[in-house]
Amino acid sequence: MRKGMDVLSIHDLSAEDVEEILTLAEELKAKQRAGIPHLLLQGKTLGMIFEKSSTRTRVSFEVGMYQLGGQALFLSSRDLQLGRGEPIKDTARVLSRYLDGIMIRTYGHERIEELARYADIPVINALSDLLHPCQALTDLLTIREYKGRHLAGLKMAYVGDGNNMTHSLMYAAAKVGMHFAAATPEGYAPHADIVANARADAAATGSTVTVMHDPLEAVQGADIIVTDTWASMGQEAEHDARTAVFRPYQVSRSLVAASGNPRCIVMHCLPAYRGEEITEEVFEEFAPVIFDEAENRLHVQKAIMALVMGG
Ligand code: CP
Ligand code: NVA
Repeated sequence: MRKGMDVLSIHDLSAEDVEEILTLAEELKAKQRAGIPHLLLQGKTLGMIFEKSSTRTRVSFEVGMYQLGGQALFLSSRDLQLGRGEPIKDTARVLSRYLDGIMIRTYGHERIEELARYADIPVINALSDLLHPCQALTDLLTIREYKGRHLAGLKMAYVGDGNNMTHSLMYAAAKVGMHFAAATPEGYAPHADIVANARADAAATGSTVTVMHDPLEAVQGADIIVTDTWASMGQEAEHDARTAVFRPYQVSRSLVAASGNPRCIVMHCLPAYRGEEITEEVFEEFAPVIFDEAENRLHVQKAIMALVMGG
């Protein structure tokens, strides 16, 4: 990966970039476990702009910077002048004078693109309404731990809302040659332009990206089933209406069995809403995978930061 580059979308990364991130994440995870120092970002500072809530992303980026020998600043938009209307392009140019990297979680993806355009330092997308690349890269690391390093040819099925996670998982799967099938209700499909981009990447790696409405069809032969909340941040007012529409998309024991694969695993980026997108029993059965997935945010983001902010 090129030092100084932004990480806004997995679609912008090469297959080699993805491999480099995962390999370094594995190395940093092993070092962390063994207590071997890996101070790759000594003296560096990351600014973390949050316009939405977070547990995992905030804590894992902040702790990750400390473990790499640097420091992190939590910048809530409630406190920044950004929250009072200072333009994002001015915020970008000011923060570039103080920091070595910016991580941002916001609503419109175009805000992240604008920040990146005006910042002289690397910008990392920590979730927008459109994409959540750090989570999907983390999911690839977790799948490697459970299914082996060779991801090409595996099948991931996503069941639920066609949201930021669907988009980034589709990009991630296509980049590494994993087949991807999404089942979403009518009116909640992933964006057509993202599906088209993912299909172009899939053509290069010999994999497929399919979108459909039938969850039973999507999970057939799946090695991994993934779901996510039915109402993402910013969609709280739609919660009840969505719950009615999404009911047939709940990841239950019978849906997992419909994969026909006794070794199929279930993943969830969290936070999870039991009784909605996933049943309590499926969540608890796959809790070891799901909490490894949560832990791996730390290792993957450390790798990303070390690669784009290091040197
Ligand atoms: N999965 C994830 O991004 O979690 P947070 O919203 O807690 O950061
Ligand atoms: N789709 C969810 C992911 C949360 C990590 C959201 O955007 O709220």
